[in-house]
Amino acid sequence: MQYVTTSNGVKIPQLGYGVFLMTSKDVHEHLPQALELGYRHIDTANAYFNEVAVGEEIRNSGIPREEIFLTTKLFPASYGKDVCMHDIDASLKRLDTDYVDLLFLHHPYGEYLQAWPILEQALAEGKTRTIGLSNFPLDKIGQIANNATVFPQVMQVEMNPRHNRHELKAALAGHDVAFEGWYPLGHGDPELLHMPVFEELAAKYGKSTAQIIERWHMQEGNIIFPKTMSVEHMKANMDIFDFALTDEEMARIDAIPQKPYYTVPDEPPEFFMARYDYSTQVRPFTNTALKKD
Ligand SMILES: NC(=O)c1ccc[n+]([C@@H]2O[C@H](COP(=O)([O-])OP(=O)(O)OC[C@H]3O[C@@H](n4cnc5c(N)ncnc54)[C@H](OP(=O)(O)O)[C@@H]3O)[C@@H](O)[C@H]2O)c1
Repeated sequence: MQYVTTSNGVKIPQLGYGVFLMTSKDVHEHLPQALELGYRHIDTANAYFNEVAVGEEIRNSGIPREEIFLTTKLFPASYGKDVCMHDIDASLKRLDTDYVDLLFLHHPYGEYLQAWPILEQALAEGKTRTIGLSNFPLDKIGQIANNATVFPQVMQVEMNPRHNRHELKAALAGHDVAFEGWYPLGHGDPELLHMPVFEELAAKYGKSTAQIIERWHMQEGNIIFPKTMSVEHMKANMDIFDFALTDEEMARIDAIPQKPYYTVPDEPPEFFMARYDYSTQVRPFTNTALKKD
């Protein structure tokens, strides 16, 4: 496995397993397969409503907790001063752990300015090993940074060959930020997976187009956690460390016209702001995926 090291020296496995849109039943079925295959990095969120299942499967695996890099995220209704630390503790309880390895503010809405110092406190108290922002645009990153003691150590954003984030990376260069990419395979978009450049490189290297895209991510320094419920794809997604794209091939992929799948809206969708009872572990909202533009 390759690792990306954060500004405070924490090593993040560059390839992990994401559990977005997986029910607790899905997690019970597929997370053990991923752990068995060697995945040691899991990306969840309180709003995925599967933290209990994730915690149970980590515990059941017998793998020492410190060998797993575990991420969760707080939905915006958890940002207020009165609830934030309580909700961090509630996530830890559901995950059946004393700490997570990475804790995010999931979306750039509501009382995020109040929440950041509480994440800093959680970091100082050892409830998380790193803290970061997910889906935050540059202006709101700046607002947080202006009042921060700890500059966000990790940014999680949509990132794939159609949204390579070179501008955001350039804007934050010098802050030693680790970048994580969601929708690393464009949420499985066949149009992306069958682009001629990926078909050509897949034939050249004897890999699938998904593996070519994942290899591009590795060479870009991106941390990714493709989601799959297929054991074959889990294996394939780990099998990307025995070849390398040339500089010219990387440049061809970098030249793909940019067209994000999702535009972070200025105003939040209503379901982003509601306060949920996470003890149910059944997702109460009906979105199946973030909207494709
Ligand atoms: N912070 C945020 O707001 C945010 C938003 C979205 C996602 N995320 C995180 O990012 C993770 C990944 O995003 P995602 O799951 O939406 O999208 P993704 O990983 O880009 O795509 C998942 C799709 O790719 C397919 N796939 C996986 N491996 C494949 C392979 N080797 N060959 C062909 N197809 C393959 C899967 O289908 P099969 O099941 O058939 O393999 C699935 O349909 C999430 O699970 C979550 O942890 C975060």
